[in-house]
Amino acid sequence: MALWGGRFSDGPADAVFALSRSVHFDWRLAPYDLRSSLAHLEILQSSGLLTADVAGAIRGALLELTAEVATGEFQAIASDEDVHSALERGLTEKLGDIGGSLRAGRSRNDQVTTDLRLYAIDHMLEVATQIINLQEALIAKANEYADAPAPGFTHLQHAQPIIFGHEIAKHAHAFARDLDRISDWLVRTSVSPLGSGALAGSSLPLSPEKTAAALGFTSSSANSIDGVSDRDFVAEALFVLAMVGSHLSRIGEEWCIWATTEFGWAKVADAYSTGSSIMPQKKNPDMAELARGKAGRLVGNLTGLLTTLKGLPFAYNRDLQEDKEPLFDSIDTVLLVLPAVTGMVATTNFDREKMALAAPLGFSLATEIADYLVRAHVPFAHAHEAAGKCVALCESSGRQLHQLTDSEFAEIHPSLQPDVRDVLTVHGALASRTTIGGTSPSSFAEQIKSLKELVQSDFKKFNDKKRAFSAMMGQ
Ligand code: ARG
Repeated sequence: MALWGGRFSDGPADAVFALSRSVHFDWRLAPYDLRSSLAHLEILQSSGLLTADVAGAIRGALLELTAEVATGEFQAIASDEDVHSALERGLTEKLGDIGGSLRAGRSRNDQVTTDLRLYAIDHMLEVATQIINLQEALIAKANEYADAPAPGFTHLQHAQPIIFGHEIAKHAHAFARDLDRISDWLVRTSVSPLGSGALAGSSLPLSPEKTAAALGFTSSSANSIDGVSDRDFVAEALFVLAMVGSHLSRIGEEWCIWATTEFGWAKVADAYSTGSSIMPQKKNPDMAELARGKAGRLVGNLTGLLTTLKGLPFAYNRDLQEDKEPLFDSIDTVLLVLPAVTGMVATTNFDREKMALAAPLGFSLATEIADYLVRAHVPFAHAHEAAGKCVALCESSGRQLHQLTDSEFAEIHPSLQPDVRDVLTVHGALASRTTIGGTSPSSFAEQIKSLKELVQSDFKKFNDKKRAFSAMMGQ
């Protein structure tokens, strides 16, 4: 059923209808559209624009439709243009002409962006929950390897020894920032555009603040033109999702590297691996690769929307219909990847022995020599130079740092006493990195303790918000 047409002598050409139509993707806004219609109905009734009888009938039909949409009993049909027209068809099928009453004081322009905000809030809260699940898996895995030395890398070259748990835990911190971003985003997104009308507000006695509160928003739009035009919340959500995707991708990349025969550190569980159709021996870390690969489309969705928005005059333009598919796709993608990566992390085992053997390789203890000299009051530039000479001598003579003789050490720098060998152990190097956030067992224990507290409080925060949102949706 068309929501317009009074001034037209002819209906839209087939190609026009096909291009205009959005119901095949915006149908997922139906529950939110119905909920915001109920809020709008309250105001139409309380301001006396609808009688109690009419409002009661519409309320009953909206609630029926809500149930029928949930079960799939009511669905969009080929002639519906968008979710709003499909649901108005549903109302008029039930109620006759009064089904069209809800359009008073409201335009699809404020309606669609209100629906999209509600959809986005609902789903970003789910993303937050899934991120927390992944953080919990990362923390558990990090704890499992709290005492496992491994080489740490810069430039993918051995740099300094680290505790492998420290390596795993770093990812949980990246996701903590994503949760922070979702919290910030929720504050800015909690503004209801309902009441902005087509662009100029309404001459009817509506109360946008009341509808805003009924829908769980903190406030209503302070400028009706901005209200219908603002898609910052979509762009920001797409950025947050792209950032989450990038963090997932970086986990994927590490898992791929660690699972190579050359590294041989990671044993990815069968349930999270795939085989090859031709090479019977293959076990590939496809989940890690897909986590990496999906990041591309998440970045693409963000740049696509920013390109749509750039240069768009304010107030509603049909270009804005293009805001939905990238958001839906990014949310679907992230909600698909997060549980798979969580499972992969939780079920991967690492070869402690291989990692421990690799920890001191590549002269990864050279910094210990430099730090030893600094403690003997040698300026760092000289200390660095001397440690470099030790490495060069080892390289040319096929030895490890602790194998240099007392006189070789002394010749390179007089402050290099035989006790320098005390710091040339992986264990000693790890134990000495006691700065906050460092890789020493004591710093790591502190890190995990506060990380757990953070995740717990985030869990509570997002769970409360989810509960409040569900309560609002169920009224
Ligand atoms: N399907 C449209 C969208 O998603 C709804 C708003 C249409 N408004 C209009 N004035 N044509 O943006």
